[in-house]
Amino acid sequence: MKKSLLKVIAPLAAASMLLAACGSDNSTGSDGEITKLVAGTEATFAPFEYMDKSGKIIGIDSEILDAIAEETGVDIEMKNVGWDPLFSQVQNNEIQLGASGITINDKRKETYDFTEPYYEATQVIVVKEGSDVKSLADLEGKKVSVQINTTGHEAAKKAFGETSTNISAFENLPVALLEVINNSTAAAIGDNAVVYEYLKNNPDSGLTVIEDDAFDKEYYGLMVKKGNKEVLDILNEGLDAIKENGKLNEIVEKYTGVTQELE
Ligand code: ARG
Repeated sequence: MKKSLLKVIAPLAAASMLLAACGSDNSTGSDGEITKLVAGTEATFAPFEYMDKSGKIIGIDSEILDAIAEETGVDIEMKNVGWDPLFSQVQNNEIQLGASGITINDKRKETYDFTEPYYEATQVIVVKEGSDVKSLADLEGKKVSVQINTTGHEAAKKAFGETSTNISAFENLPVALLEVINNSTAAAIGDNAVVYEYLKNNPDSGLTVIEDDAFDKEYYGLMVKKGNKEVLDILNEGLDAIKENGKLNEIVEKYTGVTQELE
């Protein structure tokens, strides 16, 4: 009895070990090369990542990943995991990259590696039309909403103090903007292209944008766990190719109407 059970179990165990070695999501081929990657995102960030009516993630980042996949032959799946989870999941090797309009900065570079930049951005201020706020300095002492742990959040802390109780941080940017619409905060701070897209899609929001030179230039990159050179190389190879052949600019232009000139 014992023996025959073992006969059944042993091959099963061997087979499942083999499957595990290949990666639970079949991410490597028989000779160990990477065939599939999973990218985490927060998909309320049009035009970079958002959902169409069927729940499919679309946008600039999604098309960039598709184009990289096409260039490199590596399949890339995008998953809407949320903003904070995407960082921890990359860190824990649950997913291989973040693709979410992520700004390359020194703090993140301590834990993650980034591809070369693919988009230039900056922060902008969003207020109600008719607001007397005309600059970042005017927001001193007023309530500001941001998406939590973003560069907009960092910019607010830099301007008003690390522990300022006037800063309210939310799961995503649309919620931070709703706070302004509802008069719960005087302003929101967020990424320029995303704010402009929101205003375009919500023409009756009563919101308007203020640009301020006090905000730094930012560059978006795809993000991997620090030291994951194998995945980083694949992504950079694909990015290089689509910068070279004009596909990157084509994608950005399709969604923003603007031809960007990345250095
Ligand atoms: N660029 C900003 C940052 O890296 C915001 C990105 C937010 N992205 C998103 N999909 N919600 O902090």
